[in-house]
Amino acid sequence: MIIKSIKLTNFRNHHSYKLTCDDKTSLILGSNGWGKTSVLEAIYILTRGKSFRATDPEILNRDSEYYRIELEYVNGETTVATYDGKTKNFIVLDKKQKRLPKKHKYPVVLFLPSDLNLISHSPGRRRDYFDRIFAEFDEKYATSLSKYHKALKQRNELLKKDYLKEDNLFSWNIMLAKYGTDLHNYREQFTQEINQKLTPTYHSIAENNDKITINYQSEAPKSEQTYLNHLEKNYERDHYLGHTTFGIHRDDYVFNFNNQPADGSASRGETRSIILALKFIEADLINQKLHQKPIILLDDVFSELDETRRRCLIKNFKDNQVIITSVGSSS
Ligand SMILES: Nc1ncnc2c1ncn2[C@@H]1O[C@H](COP(=O)(O)OP(=O)(O)OP(=O)(O)O)[C@@H](O)[C@H]1O
Ligand SMILES: [Mg+2]
Repeated sequence: MIIKSIKLTNFRNHHSYKLTCDDKTSLILGSNGWGKTSVLEAIYILTRGKSFRATDPEILNRDSEYYRIELEYVNGETTVATYDGKTKNFIVLDKKQKRLPKKHKYPVVLFLPSDLNLISHSPGRRRDYFDRIFAEFDEKYATSLSKYHKALKQRNELLKKDYLKEDNLFSWNIMLAKYGTDLHNYREQFTQEINQKLTPTYHSIAENNDKITINYQSEAPKSEQTYLNHLEKNYERDHYLGHTTFGIHRDDYVFNFNNQPADGSASRGETRSIILALKFIEADLINQKLHQKPIILLDDVFSELDETRRRCLIKNFKDNQVIITSVGSSS
């Protein structure tokens, strides 16, 4: 899918802004705080259904009562999102809906400067990162994840109560075991698929013999029953601590560089090449799985990359629609 234009009204600092996009590459130039990332954020909301960095109250322009964003695709299709301080609506084909319908979601590969620190980020940031990608690979992943988090929240709320009967947790345990094993299997499968491509893709960026792998680390078992047993066994400890101490919400993805943890062994440049390779693979797997070319959103990453890696990035995404932001004069 190709974006024709994006219009922003009262979205962050933009009271009224329109970008007409090129089929190939569009460049958004502006000084710091001009609102470049916000334009990508609006595109992301209208293609993926929610922001990659904030909630609607934070996004709504501080002096305004509503925001409205509108994306037009080259085939004439439009997606609108509105928020009035209370209610968020998506309008697609003249129909108002609370969420962006699956049929009107389009794949995006988002590259933020902070992604370059993914390898040394906290496990939570890495989980969020891969959750976002895996949800693009398969909508069922997104559904299981949202059900898992709902159940986890409910279970944790109960665990905070002084008086609690173990039986009260039963239905939440069942759900956590069901969706937990489901997500565990997806994570294992998707990490494996990434790993198959990681070293060769890395070699296409940095010509050497280094071996790169992602080690998916999870304490969760493959069987739903064993998962359930673990949750039940931990009841007293969880009640004492007031939260669920076992499950896939504690997973991690460790990057290895020549069989050593990359965090601490790979150089800055090598780390950048690994992340670049990961982005190429994301686009590749989206292509393979969904038969769609993702839209590429590059937020100010050029300044973080050297000439060789910049050229590599452009070359790799030459057949995609790419929207780039960069610090500079917009005149
Ligand atoms: N809800 C809001 N209402 C009004 N202004 C906001 C709101 N949220 C953020 N801003 C401001 O909007 C501006 C644009 O933010 P944005 O992150 O898009 O800028 P940017 O051009 O990407 O900047 P940088 O080059 O530093 O990354 C910032 O000055 C920010 O403080
Ligand atoms: Mg920015």
